[in-house]
Amino acid sequence: MNKKKAIYPGSFDPPTNGHIDIINRGLTIFDTIVVSVIVNPSKDALFSVEERKEMLHSVYNSNPAVEIDSFEGLLVDYASQKGANTILRGLRAVSDFEYEFQMALMNRKLNPEIKSVYLMPSPEFTFLSSSIVKEVCSLGGDISCLVPTAVEKQLKKKFL
Ligand code: COA
Repeated sequence: MNKKKAIYPGSFDPPTNGHIDIINRGLTIFDTIVVSVIVNPSKDALFSVEERKEMLHSVYNSNPAVEIDSFEGLLVDYASQKGANTILRGLRAVSDFEYEFQMALMNRKLNPEIKSVYLMPSPEFTFLSSSIVKEVCSLGGDISCLVPTAVEKQLKKKFL
């Protein structure tokens, strides 16, 4: 088991600068971060899993410390398969806490070997979510400082 490998799971529909902030902070702690898009057919997504992975690739193309992947099923099982014993998540505000606390404890119950680590993003990203970015873009607002350039391009393609 590689102690310095973390899984950063999420919907990433699409990835935002808030996600990038967490990944970049995580890279100061972990040797490798596997950014993994959840395959969740029951959640209506704007981007396909492949599109989301491509957008993440475009940000971390040349960084061997970041692996882009997708998963379905239990997160702890996936983490074990990847040889990772840490799940990385971001905590944007107190409102995230209850859900994250419940998830961390359930994951611990399912597999006590797997630890959850939480990082706080920069304050300028604490209000960000993928939905709010999609809404602003769909209404013609400027999202250039909220998402990576490749994501802005893809969002504009979807909405214009
Ligand atoms: N910056 C910006 N936005 C952020 C963010 C950050 N740092 N962190 C979270 N968000 C936003 C996301 O963009 C997303 O926004 P949206 O709802 O507008 O799309 C929202 O917060 C939810 O975050 P996300 O990371 O996508 O979480 P999720 O709740 O969709 O998925 C998983 C969380 C994948 C970790 C969880 O569903 C999971 O583990 N599933 C596997 C099944 C399992 O093992 N279940 C048992 C464990 S309890």
